[in-house]
Amino acid sequence: MESCPPRSGPPAGLRSWPGCLRASGLPGWLLASWALQLAGGQSITHTGQPIVVSLANRTASFSCSITYQYTPQFRHFHVTYFQVDLEGRKSKESPTGCQPSQGIENRTYTLDCQVTPPLPNALATGTYYCCSYWPSITACGNGTFILVRDTGYQEPPPSPQKALLFSFTGLLATLSVLLTALLLWKKKQMLVPLKCSTHACPDPRPASRPTQPPEDSLYTALQRRETEVYSYIESKAGSLPSAAGSPPSQKKLRRQEDKSEFNLVYENL
Ligand SMILES: *[C@@H]1O[C@H](CO)[C@@H](O)[C@H](O)[C@H]1NC(C)=O
Ligand SMILES: *[C@@H]1O[C@H](CO)[C@@H](O)[C@H](O)[C@H]1NC(C)=O
Ligand SMILES: *[C@@H]1O[C@H](CO)[C@@H](O)[C@H](O)[C@H]1NC(C)=O
Repeated sequence: MESCPPRSGPPAGLRSWPGCLRASGLPGWLLASWALQLAGGQSITHTGQPIVVSLANRTASFSCSITYQYTPQFRHFHVTYFQVDLEGRKSKESPTGCQPSQGIENRTYTLDCQVTPPLPNALATGTYYCCSYWPSITACGNGTFILVRDTGYQEPPPSPQKALLFSFTGLLATLSVLLTALLLWKKKQMLVPLKCSTHACPDPRPASRPTQPPEDSLYTALQRRETEVYSYIESKAGSLPSAAGSPPSQKKLRRQEDKSEFNLVYENL
């Protein structure tokens, strides 16, 4: 238990120190209530709910009532409050603005004091204590716990699921475009042998490899393309010296073919 700093003035038994709360806890408050009874009925109690739940930046208040006797010794006082957060740190004391009013000598009065502390964020969570400062004595209440939640509802940040969905859709779109292009290309591949037969271009492929059916896999198609490219180069190299007039017509044909292919792609899109 932390020892409370000795203070000048009334005997130690008649005082309570809010600062001792952190280490000593209840005994200090017990001592305080006992001391207050000795001093003539002064007391400070927290009225209302012992626990208050609030959202950040919303007004939440707690009340304490100070009972005192209207005597020269006790008719003047001021009320403050402070917070002890979840880690046991005590905040600076702030004024509440509650003031005792005029009264009749020796009568007992009760001052109800409502405190609305600022609750900017969840760090404002803690126990809030009312304290009453008389010239000769200080007393604090048992405290009200205020739980501060940061916000009720927040616009959720872009969830990874959403991003995933978007990228998946994009992927699907890309795939469909690619597949369309592939289909067109395959169609063209199937058209080439036909053209060759009508235009009497040299057929470098062995007779044992007939035109493959369209349900061939993609890989077969790719392989075919490869062999075809090579064979085309070979045939071109072989036919260059002999057939000088054929390349321009072939080029022309190819260009027309490309044009029709582009048209097909645009139509598909
Ligand atoms: C404050 O707490 C102490 C210890 O629990 C208790 O004896 C006392 O009655 C409480 N005072 C008020 C005003 O509730
Ligand atoms: C108030 O009480 C004190 C002490 O008990 C006494 O001396 C004084 O005369 C009283 N005042 C009035 C106005 O009753
Ligand atoms: C509360 O208000 C303060 C100042 O107005 C602001 O900086 C803070 O972000 C607000 N907190 C919440 C949770 O809205």
